[in-house]
Amino acid sequence: MNIFDQYESEVRFYCRGFPDVFVAAKGARLRGRSGRDYIDFFAGAGTLNYGHNDEAMKARLIAYLSDDGIVHGLDMATGAKEAFIRGFQDTILAPRGLSYRMLFPGPTGTNAVEVALKLARKATGRQRIVSFVNGFHGMTLGALAVSGGPLRQPAAGPQVGGTVFLPYDGGSGCDSLEWFERMLAETSDPAQSPAGCIVETVQAEGGIVAASMDWLRRLEQICRRHGILLILDDIQAGCGRTGTFFSFEPAGLVPDIICLAKSLSGIGLPLALVLVKAEHDRLAPGEHNGTFRGNNLAFVTATEALRFWRDDALERAVVRKAATIRRALEAIAAAHPDTICPAVRGRGMIQGLATPSGAFARRVSAEAFARGLVMETAGPHGEVLKCLCPLVITDEDLDQGLRILAASVAAAEAA
Ligand SMILES: Cc1ncc(COP(=O)(O)O)c(C=O)c1O
Repeated sequence: MNIFDQYESEVRFYCRGFPDVFVAAKGARLRGRSGRDYIDFFAGAGTLNYGHNDEAMKARLIAYLSDDGIVHGLDMATGAKEAFIRGFQDTILAPRGLSYRMLFPGPTGTNAVEVALKLARKATGRQRIVSFVNGFHGMTLGALAVSGGPLRQPAAGPQVGGTVFLPYDGGSGCDSLEWFERMLAETSDPAQSPAGCIVETVQAEGGIVAASMDWLRRLEQICRRHGILLILDDIQAGCGRTGTFFSFEPAGLVPDIICLAKSLSGIGLPLALVLVKAEHDRLAPGEHNGTFRGNNLAFVTATEALRFWRDDALERAVVRKAATIRRALEAIAAAHPDTICPAVRGRGMIQGLATPSGAFARRVSAEAFARGLVMETAGPHGEVLKCLCPLVITDEDLDQGLRILAASVAAAEAA
């Protein structure tokens, strides 16, 4: 790692916990220059739901480049974008009875959140945004302002105001939605009412905390009653991570604005998408401009990734593998009652194991890496072990990864 230590900024982060130089990857496996193979339980923080280097996506990309397809085109109409819009409309939106305009912001999740906040403010003429404690929505100033974790506030410079934070489902042992309703009932000036409410169905960075479907439905109803736009941040929990394409499908929600990024391109290329109901699509031409809006290479792979949603094979596989993960995490929790709070969290293939401290979770992650497993931590204090393998992981890799995790917890406890 010398050249990185010598020349790269101190801000680098993930490489510190996973000290190898990665040179190749396939499916759920990474290869290090050390010659070691690692099972990937991190999946680019939810960017590699379909695994590393899917053969069909790779082939489409290579063919597109060989044919001199447009690589950069600002937000001009291109054949690659046209194919994606048509495919997404026909494969994802229409079968679910959903109707949205597609807005392509800059290619990161945080840019999708920035534009979602702008849309909500412009469409309602109001300013305030309701968000939830320990939610995470990105690292640019607007997205940070609605992120509620202690580690996420700007290190320096101005802070954007206008956010009202409420406890998430189950947080503080209270009914936060009752608070929300009271707050709204006692707000006499309509201009002080919130423009939007931004929420994750599973707080991912916040520690793999899944909201109940009932809580999500109540939240949507409150938003509807008060003309507050519901912004669903599906950047980490979407694209099949919980089993369905959108994580809110089991709750039957129809959010006003949906943010997608991470796994949308299918292969890890940067691409973000904001879905907005036509009546709220109120930004004027150019009002959220940017050079890299709509990444044509990512459109090519994202269009190919839609094949996973033409039947229910992936959804069924997620249900089956999620049950395997659940059983394994519960067995680990039961085997270490003194160390691990028996708190297995999450749903689908975003699950976590709460531990007593960030230091303990980091120790487990280091033990896992030494045994050939890449696994990150999450939560307000980094205390939750985060199980986020590619959805297409083989049963063998999944079982081996879970065995390594069990051994790593035992090793960390013994240390
Ligand atoms: C729910 C959620 N929203 C937004 C973001 C920000 O996405 P990006 O890192 O691509 O800016 C993340 C990243 O982890 C996330 O998990």
